[in-house]
Amino acid sequence: MVSDTIIRLMNEQITKEQYASQLYLSMSAWFYSQDLEGVANYFRVQSKEELMHADKMFDYINNVGGQVVLDEVAKPPHEFSGAQDIFEQALEHERLVTKSIFNIVKAANDEGDFATTSFLQWFINEQVEEESSASLLVTKIKMVKDNPSALYLFDQELAQRVFTPAAEN
Ligand SMILES: [Fe+2]
Ligand SMILES: [Fe+2]
Repeated sequence: MVSDTIIRLMNEQITKEQYASQLYLSMSAWFYSQDLEGVANYFRVQSKEELMHADKMFDYINNVGGQVVLDEVAKPPHEFSGAQDIFEQALEHERLVTKSIFNIVKAANDEGDFATTSFLQWFINEQVEEESSASLLVTKIKMVKDNPSALYLFDQELAQRVFTPAAEN
């Protein structure tokens, strides 16, 4: 039902989701090192969400009779020039992931593989949300600039985020 090409692209996507998880965990670590625990929490939750994405794809490949083949996950950066730099990189990264998912959808469409396009619909919607929240945070961190009390409030706000696996379904 699902071609080898699509299985290969889905396997590559698993690696990309795992890398996104590593990247956000590294960003989280940077914020912990700056004592911005709320922002660190936000990225830690984000990191877990990315693993859930990889997990969903893992299940899909198995369900359609393919084999999951794991790859090396690249080392994420750990030096950042500041909070704004991180939020901009996160937004940039989400845009890359969106492109990558769109590529699989396009390939699946060309093959008339409706099972995969239907499965990936969830990811398309998810990317709309991811890009929207990443872009909102870029705007907010620009407003904060070097104002310590604004940064304190921003950190408090992001401390509220909790990981909810149910929201992933
Ligand atoms: Fe993802
Ligand atoms: Fe993401």
